[in-house]
Amino acid sequence: SKIKQVEFVGSSVRPKDCPKDERPEFAMLGRSNVGKSSLINTLVRKKEVALTSKKPGKTQLINHFLVNKSWYLVDLPGYGFANAPESARMDWSSFTKGYFLNRETLVAVLLLVDASVPPQKIDLDCANWLGRNNIAMTLVFTKCDKMKGGKGKRPDENIKSFQELISRNYKIHPPWIMTSSSTGLGRDDLLLHMSQLRNY
Ligand code: GTP
Ligand code: MG
Repeated sequence: SKIKQVEFVGSSVRPKDCPKDERPEFAMLGRSNVGKSSLINTLVRKKEVALTSKKPGKTQLINHFLVNKSWYLVDLPGYGFANAPESARMDWSSFTKGYFLNRETLVAVLLLVDASVPPQKIDLDCANWLGRNNIAMTLVFTKCDKMKGGKGKRPDENIKSFQELISRNYKIHPPWIMTSSSTGLGRDDLLLHMSQLRNY
């Protein structure tokens, strides 16, 4: 699962403009600002192959990154960002139909969930939607470095609550992984996990 090379292949406005290719891919899905683009940079150990920002709404297109000339990481715009400019706002339901349901080379969706906050309805809904549509997903909990003091819950408690909710309400039990793009936590585990999924 070693990364020797990564190249930015291109941006697509619409799902049907994505590269026509047989090579397998993994898509980063999650709320704006959850850390999708940061995780790509962490995985490939490059600072700015995917552009990141403190402000939500940074990624606005479907961006394909080819790894080791053999598989893709796909950076997507985030959902749940109400204040995005009109041009940046996505119709999430048409997008999911267009991309997640029709992209034959999609091995799994990496559903990124912020571990520094309690479970959010929009993320639970998203996991439910993927589950109901039989789309393979791995839960990737981000920002696990952010330890909350005082009233806030710790990342491991938020993660446990999230899993209990989707398991009880939607009967889904996806594989999951704790990560931090700040410390590199979970990087190697996630790469290994993806290599196992590719080889099934
Ligand atoms: P959109 O493109 O707007 O959908 O956002 P995104 O999900 O791609 O988020 P992005 O990677 O741009 O990161 C958003 C902010 O979160 C940036 O300020 C990152 O530095 C920060 N961030 C991302 N991952 C982590 C993490 O693991 N820990 C901490 N502490 N901050 C993180
Ligand atoms: Mg982004």
